[in-house]
This record gives sequence, structure tokens and C-alpha cells, in this order.
Amino acid sequence: MSERTLVLVKPDGVARGLVGEVLVRIERRGLKLAALELKNVTEDLASQHYAEHNGKPFYQSLLDFITSGPVVAIVVEGPRAVSAFRQIAGGTDPVEKAAPGSVRGDFALEVQENIVHGSDSTESAAREISLWFPDLP
Ligand code: CMP
Repeated sequence: MSERTLVLVKPDGVARGLVGEVLVRIERRGLKLAALELKNVTEDLASQHYAEHNGKPFYQSLLDFITSGPVVAIVVEGPRAVSAFRQIAGGTDPVEKAAPGSVRGDFALEVQENIVHGSDSTESAAREISLWFPDLP
């Protein structure tokens, strides 16, 4: 069954010119793009997107980072899209958890500046997609 996930190419990924690299990996896998936008992230959107991390030691730094430059927000669609993109991204810690061959395993070294975000469940995906693309049917 087809599902949707929200992918962000974060400010570090956009600044390093890795948008195409991420899109190639999504499309090559057979997933489809349902929406895509280059966006400047407001403090309000950032805090709603990362609400579950409110109170954690890295929360303010995460908000500062995600609002530091444009991001590319993408709705990705396909069979098991949530898990499939998390596999493409690799684990959150690019060195300890992300396998070589994943986006983070190939391009990142830091836990915060880890190039991409992908929703962690279909429930999170629905919440995040409605935040980033409120008009998407
Ligand atoms: P993301 O998948 O966007 O979800 C939450 C983000 O918080 C995560 O990717 C990282 O960018 C960041 N993050 C998670 N854990 C830490 C940490 N221990 N220190 C700094 N940033 C973190």
C-alpha cells in the first residue's frame, strides 16, 4: 500500500549542493515526488515541526540550525515510503549509526548537521506534511 513521508534537505544539505543527490536516491529507489518546495523556515514552523524535542538539550540549537538557511521540503510517496526513506537517509548519527551507502553515511559527520530529515512513522508523516504543505490534497 502506498504511503507518504516528509523529507527535508536541511540547510547544510542545500548549502553543500546535495539536493540533486538526495532526489536521485529517492527516485532511483522507485519512490515518487508528490510535492517539493524550497522554503525559508520560520521559527514558528521549526518549533511545530520539532515539538517532540522541546526540552531536550539540543532543542534550541536545532531550531537555530533549521532556520539558518533555506531547506527543500519534499513529500515522497510509494510503498513503505516512511521506512524506505529512513533507509536511504541512514541513522541519525552519521558516524555511529548510518551505513555507508546511505545519505548520512556518505555525506555527514555530525548528529545535528545530518543533511536530511525523514518522518519516523506514518502518524508523524501526516502531521509534518500538514505543517509543511497545508494545501496539499
Ligand atoms: P531529524 O531526523 O531531523 O530529527 C531531529 C533532529 O535533531 C535530528 O535529525 C538531528 O538533526 C538533531 N539531533 C538529534 N539528536 C541530536 C543530538 N544528540 N545533538 C544534536 N542534534 C541532535
